[in-house]
Amino acid sequence: MAKYVGVLTAGGDSPGLNAAIRGIGKAANGIYGIQIIGFKDGFRGVMENRILMLDRQSLSGILTRGGTILGTSRDKPHKMPIGGKILDMTDAIIENYEKHKLDCLVCIGGGGTQKNAWKLAQKGLNIITLPKTIDNDVAKTDVTFGFDTALGVATDAIDRLHSTAHSHHRIIVVEIMGHRSGWLALGAGIAGGADVILIPEIPYDINIVAESILRRSQLGSPFSIVAVAEGALSKEESKELKSSEKKIDKAVDANEKVKLKAEHKALIALKEGSTLRLANMLEQLTGLESRVTILGHLQRGGIPSAADRLLATKLGTACAEYIDKGIYGVMVASRGESTEPVPLEKVVGIKKLVPIDHDWVKSARAVGTCMGDQ
Ligand code: F6P
Repeated sequence: MAKYVGVLTAGGDSPGLNAAIRGIGKAANGIYGIQIIGFKDGFRGVMENRILMLDRQSLSGILTRGGTILGTSRDKPHKMPIGGKILDMTDAIIENYEKHKLDCLVCIGGGGTQKNAWKLAQKGLNIITLPKTIDNDVAKTDVTFGFDTALGVATDAIDRLHSTAHSHHRIIVVEIMGHRSGWLALGAGIAGGADVILIPEIPYDINIVAESILRRSQLGSPFSIVAVAEGALSKEESKELKSSEKKIDKAVDANEKVKLKAEHKALIALKEGSTLRLANMLEQLTGLESRVTILGHLQRGGIPSAADRLLATKLGTACAEYIDKGIYGVMVASRGESTEPVPLEKVVGIKKLVPIDHDWVKSARAVGTCMGDQ
């Protein structure tokens, strides 16, 4: 029977984190009599032994709060920046895990956190993870919490941009988060009725986008909303990245691989911020004035939606049940209306991207939305 459990939140914050912490804490303590210790600022807090006791009082009133009461960071146990150096601090984390006599460490995070947590599980720690991210790109779960709230914010933004784009006869290009996946841009684009939706999974041709905007204009709608995922790529950019990936795969020499990976990263960084370029090119190609709105961290902030509170509470309380049953080395996935423990090795290293024949893509095309490729 578990007595002491640690909880941390890692990676970018996401609406619903506090609901999840509360769900774990209330169920683990109230039903199973487990004491919950929160670690501050992700894996760094475990390494530095900075804790917050998650008692009745600290769990009270947090369900509706955005962000995370524990704080978060993108620090990795095995690559921790310390005093200008990058060090492997896994042993220090294991030491503090043992010091607190933990029976389990719950790591709440996105794809990166799943990987870091799995590495700790391989070192012998009892680990359970919960999938959170506004990007919705974690494998083996129907959905991640945070996504629904961000979807609402981005949709609301598109709704509002419509009236100003219409009044000024402009193209408004709205950049939506999602890292390298297009779930958020696609979902918000469909829900907000964007005229063009560009996602990383479907490389676009700028001329096709411009033609669709001109067609709308000729049909009496001289304004357009372009919902572009931050990771969207043109066909040329996508080709360039693919050939760089191939070079990395082919490289046998370790040093060469490191060099190519660094070049690949630089290439990706170059593509970022290309939304302004996209808007300028559309202005040139269509003759319509264009503006850019970057939604950024607005999409992650603020109170979680009802759906995210519900999902996070479902996953959090199920997590407490798994701990009581001694089910470790798993991610608590959402499956339909229920949950499922998925072994971490089946989750790590896989990004859940939008399948190009997904029903959302078909629906977008069916209502006449240009996806940039045809
Ligand atoms: O993973 C969530 C996310 O918001 C992505 O959509 C985005 O690319 C990234 O985090 C931004 O990270 P940061 O908050 O560290 O700038």
